[in-house]
Amino acid sequence: MKTIFLLFLCIFGARAYRPNVLFIILDDLRPALQVYGDTTSYSPNINSLAKKSFVFQQAYAQQALCAPSRNSLLTSRRPDTLHLYDFYSYWRDAVGNFTTLPQHFKEHGYQTYSIGKVFHPGISSNFSDDQPYSWTRSPYHPKTEQFKNAKVCTNSDGTLGKNLICPVVTEFQPLGTLPDIESTNEAVKFLQATKTNTQPYFLAVGFHKPHIPFKFPERYLDYHPLSNISLPSNRVRPSLLPDVAWNPWIDIRERDDVKKLNIPFPYGPIPDDLNKRIIQAYYASVTYVDDLIGKVLQNADFTNTIVVVTSDHGWSLGQHGEFSKYSNFEEATRVPLIIHVPNLSEKRINVDSLTELVDIFPTLVDLTRVSEPLLRCPKSAILNVCTEGKSLLPVMLGSLEMHKKVQGKSAIFTQHPRPGARPTLNPNSDKPHLRDIQIMGYSIKTNVYRYSEWVGFDNENFRANWTKIYGRELYNHQIDPQENLNLEDRADLQPIIKKLRKRLILGWRKSY
Ligand SMILES: *[C@@H]1O[C@H](CO)[C@@H](O)[C@H](O)[C@H]1NC(C)=O
Ligand SMILES: *[C@@H]1O[C@H](CO)[C@@H](O)[C@H](O)[C@H]1NC(C)=O
Ligand SMILES: *[C@@H]1O[C@H](CO)[C@@H](O)[C@H](O)[C@H]1NC(C)=O
Ligand SMILES: *[C@@H]1O[C@H](CO)[C@@H](O)[C@H](O)[C@H]1NC(C)=O
Repeated sequence: MKTIFLLFLCIFGARAYRPNVLFIILDDLRPALQVYGDTTSYSPNINSLAKKSFVFQQAYAQQALCAPSRNSLLTSRRPDTLHLYDFYSYWRDAVGNFTTLPQHFKEHGYQTYSIGKVFHPGISSNFSDDQPYSWTRSPYHPKTEQFKNAKVCTNSDGTLGKNLICPVVTEFQPLGTLPDIESTNEAVKFLQATKTNTQPYFLAVGFHKPHIPFKFPERYLDYHPLSNISLPSNRVRPSLLPDVAWNPWIDIRERDDVKKLNIPFPYGPIPDDLNKRIIQAYYASVTYVDDLIGKVLQNADFTNTIVVVTSDHGWSLGQHGEFSKYSNFEEATRVPLIIHVPNLSEKRINVDSLTELVDIFPTLVDLTRVSEPLLRCPKSAILNVCTEGKSLLPVMLGSLEMHKKVQGKSAIFTQHPRPGARPTLNPNSDKPHLRDIQIMGYSIKTNVYRYSEWVGFDNENFRANWTKIYGRELYNHQIDPQENLNLEDRADLQPIIKKLRKRLILGWRKSY
């Protein structure tokens, strides 16, 4: 490890470095990008960025829900530390005065600015995007965010609805624009205005798409004709999947255009034709937001700016008959992670190591040398500045051709709560309130297996009851990367389950 850092110092010298950071986060984006080998995707701008970046092949969110995932990423602490599994608590009041990623840069002389959806809005960021702590100026929100769920989507009979699938003519939308277009303009304005500044910046730009509703300028459909869309080969619910693992995609059912179809709760299925149109609209949203990212990147100085592109979690597009997030499946938890480092990643460098979103904060600290490397958070003491992740710098340097591979983490962890053992509308079993949480699905993924166990959870003491098991899942990603076959009852695999279970209970600290 020491030699790696020495090498880093050789490349960059020991002088003050302090590059800018441009942190771009998308909402609900699985790796549906050409750089991840997705041939349905058309995402040329992120592709160009990837040609001069580290591309993380195995990056995972800690929970497949916006607020818990974003707070986890931005504080480098896990949902079990923040006690946040829903939308309804603010860590500074609930658990500790933890320093955030942007706050750390602010406290070390950076100008920090938030545009669009970076923190999840509402209680979980104290209705202020964590002001006055995280940002040197007031966060920017597009005016058209207020129409996020308005009835602005055209039905075939000419009426307007709150639809899931919502291609629009931008000029005819309220205020003649869309939130991500407004955010892009603001980001471009900021980048142009700071071009000659000597103070470095940490600019966070949070795009709303491809989160539902799929509201995007209709011309992006041209890149994704329906005839080119194919259905997932594994679009049925696996027979061995425990009920507790199933997320009934309630947010999809609630949209006007889907509600009309009276799809049976909780298992559906969604008709093939709608499934295809969902895939088409998701990919059109990705092409749309990729176009906007291109406009932002055109204005960034790549010689002096670290650029990060990632997402808060993934999204199921019909795999296992599932849609949306709210699960521990690969589709819901795996995310894109692309990091451009000036003078270090002049071409595309794939990083295969297992990676978690909690790793981003310590990585950016090491890449910018804004401060000493972050300490790992101790088990008992409460520190304001520390990490429950691990800096990716060693595996990044190890992935450069000239060095030998560096071993990263041996496992990553995700979790998802449930109010009961079976899917329910009320309480909403996709995203239960803390007071309703009775079960936690803990999941560990190694280079070969994913093992998930759904166990009793005490929502007052935040404790798992590992003796009360509601469901288990074991997938072998080497032979079944799609997670179609739950192997948990195989007699011959019980010794492996026993080992994985032990590691799952011991948690992330033991898997470094
Ligand atoms: C929390 O941290 C901030 C920034 O370090 C500090 O200004 C504030 O006083 C702290 N609040 C409490 C209650 O300790
Ligand atoms: C959260 O916001 C409220 C209302 O603006 C404010 O009184 C409170 O101090 C804030 N909490 C923290 C920890 O800053
Ligand atoms: C649709 O698929 C065909 C055949 O693979 C391909 O030639 C065409 O370019 C695709 N259309 C678009 C807009 O990607
Ligand atoms: C990268 O290299 C260029 C050209 O040598 C130099 O001007 C620039 O300052 C370097 N950037 C960083 C962040 O070291």
